Amino acid sequence: ALVSMRQLLDHAAEFSYGLPAFNVNNLEQMRAIMEAADKTDSPVIVQASAGARKYAGAPFLRHLILAAIEEFPHIPVVMHQDHGTSPAICQRSIQLGFSSVMMDGSLAEDGKTPTDYDYNVSVTRNVVALAHACGVSVEGEIGCLGSLETGQAGEEDGVGAEGILDHSQLLTDPEEAAQFVRDTGVDALAIAIGTSHGAYKFSRPPTGDILAINRIKEIHARIPNTHLVMHGSSSVPQDWLKIINEFGGEIPETYGVPVEEIVEGIKHGVRKVNIDTDLRLASTGAIRRFLAAHPSEFDPRKYLKETVTAMRDICIARYEAFGAAGQA
Ligand code: G3H
Ligand code: 13P
Ligand code: NA
Ligand code: ZN
Repeated sequence: ALVSMRQLLDHAAEFSYGLPAFNVNNLEQMRAIMEAADKTDSPVIVQASAGARKYAGAPFLRHLILAAIEEFPHIPVVMHQDHGTSPAICQRSIQLGFSSVMMDGSLAEDGKTPTDYDYNVSVTRNVVALAHACGVSVEGEIGCLGSLETGQAGEEDGVGAEGILDHSQLLTDPEEAAQFVRDTGVDALAIAIGTSHGAYKFSRPPTGDILAINRIKEIHARIPNTHLVMHGSSSVPQDWLKIINEFGGEIPETYGVPVEEIVEGIKHGVRKVNIDTDLRLASTGAIRRFLAAHPSEFDPRKYLKETVTAMRDICIARYEAFGAAGQA
């Protein structure tokens, strides 16, 4: 059944678990997520980015998610729009039937220029008014996502601040977060706590304290009823990087956010954990490995099936680690 994000995250808060929110662009990802949720009895958040809409087209994405709900009617599913850069985009998604939207007013409509507080409040408040009138949840963002190591936003197209961010922009200010929630009425709030989008988060193996856990605690203490969202939460599995590079890929040494660190965040109010890159890496590794072993194979279903299995295993691992398993 299609549910709002508020419903799922309220439940997650009540029972102290976190929900992975996987990005979806194609049939194989959608199937991997639903099979994993079915196997582990987990509620689902799937999200579509602007890039996904450009790739698949909004109607295909919408029906892909509706098809998932039809095939798995016993699983609650949130259809979330990721990183909306304007109220008009959010309004369009609401009209299409999305049950949750992100108004990312931390960046301007170009998706890369950091904005000021008043702009962020005004666009986000606008979206909250129209979304709540339709029973749709809203995620806002305060602070700019970027690596504490480099000050860079990461590799994603269309959703990352341009240039080098300074330390104060990279960590959400707790007082400002609290004021933002009072000013806008968002259901969920994405915070900057040391993560960045894409595969290139950290150049050295993380040794604990990768996330600003104290910052999460301070923010959660001020806004205990607002669900915290962590973007850039891929763990960048080293086994998949190895497989990609073993079979012709060239991805330099890089590290993501360890699952244990995310679990620590979940203990302190993080409820929605955005993951895209991990499924991309697994998918690419599975295809490279399969085609290397079966050079005469040309039926796409053969290698795409491998991607479903690879992505499904990651989804299962995240549902279990975040405590979502058994909560559907
Ligand atoms: O937030 C970023 C997601 O990973 C979506 O990326 O814009 O390439 O679809 P995308
Ligand atoms: P990753 O690039 O770490 O998977 O983050 C995805 C994300 O935050 C989508 O909004
Ligand atoms: Na989002
Ligand atoms: Zn994001």
